[in-house]
Amino acid sequence: MAHQTKTFMQHLFELRHKGLIERDLTTLLHAVTTSCKAIANHLKNGDLGDAMGSLDSQNVQGETQKKLDVIANDIFLERCQYSGVLCAMVSEEMDQIYPIPGDFPTGPYVLFFDPLDGSSNVDVNVSVGTIFSIFKLSEIPDKLTVEALMKPGVEQVAAGYALYGPSTMLVLTTGHGVDAFTFDGSIGEFRQTHVGIQIPEDTSEIAINASRARYWEAYLKTYVDECFEGANGPRGRDFNMRWVASMVAEVHRILLRGGVFMYPVDSQNRKAGGKLRLLYEANPMSFLVEQAGGRSVSRTDRIMEIAPENLHQRVGVFMGSKSEVDLLVSKAQASRSVS
Ligand code: AHG
Ligand code: MN
Ligand code: MN
Repeated sequence: MAHQTKTFMQHLFELRHKGLIERDLTTLLHAVTTSCKAIANHLKNGDLGDAMGSLDSQNVQGETQKKLDVIANDIFLERCQYSGVLCAMVSEEMDQIYPIPGDFPTGPYVLFFDPLDGSSNVDVNVSVGTIFSIFKLSEIPDKLTVEALMKPGVEQVAAGYALYGPSTMLVLTTGHGVDAFTFDGSIGEFRQTHVGIQIPEDTSEIAINASRARYWEAYLKTYVDECFEGANGPRGRDFNMRWVASMVAEVHRILLRGGVFMYPVDSQNRKAGGKLRLLYEANPMSFLVEQAGGRSVSRTDRIMEIAPENLHQRVGVFMGSKSEVDLLVSKAQASRSVS
């Protein structure tokens, strides 16, 4: 028989047989991946389908919702509530906690997700993604208050994303390294294509929305300027820049070939706390990046140690190749802190 790479489910069974993950987490991750497959199926029809375009509604962040933001959110709710292991879900597209309805069995797991990341790219057929973060509470809380769900990222039991690009991929960590799977349409399953991804420690590629340079702190402006000075500047080598405006695509590139991704708190977004959301963007991506040997901070502090206070809390983000994030942190530490 020709050698076939493992399917995603075989990978999960293997983790379970080795005693590395619980059966209930396998069940939940299965529900997560079937949700991602259903989202990919909506996306692939593009303008031929009826899922493109914006709605009149805004989400809790005041952002105009795309039809697909809502479709992807509904797919996750519908499929994951059946898992029987969740007590609650939290999504970018819902103001409040979504408690598992009374007619389903529940369990102590909580799922945080960004159903469609980079959704401004959807109408122009550029890569988007889905990000997820999973926690296990010590018990199902009597009352599903925000406080009951606020755990730091170090307590995540699994995190990952689906990338809807030229191919659909699923990237996962359960705290035992980072593995990637590519969707094989011939069998309707993800199959393993990357084992134990490690981010190169050094890089000459940065990702930042440079149109915001006028809002940056001085140390960050200096850092980016020095990169752009290239071989003749203080860094002594040329740097490349990429900005897809889909965090999933950005982090995926960094996992595979190194780089640093920056979305800092700046003078324009400071009041909001930054742009990216801690619980369903920064935390899961930080878990992946750290598991792949990289580093992830908010200015100087490890993102996964931040004690969250609210569901849609925002945070500054520097993540990626370790030596470059180390350099950013040392520059931030040396500069006067801005409150
Ligand atoms: P979302 O579509 O879920 O709101 O997330 C978009 C995020 C992130 O994916 C991306 O890195 C960033 O916003 C892009 O920001 P700019 O519009 O400033 O480029
Ligand atoms: Mn997002
Ligand atoms: Mn989103």
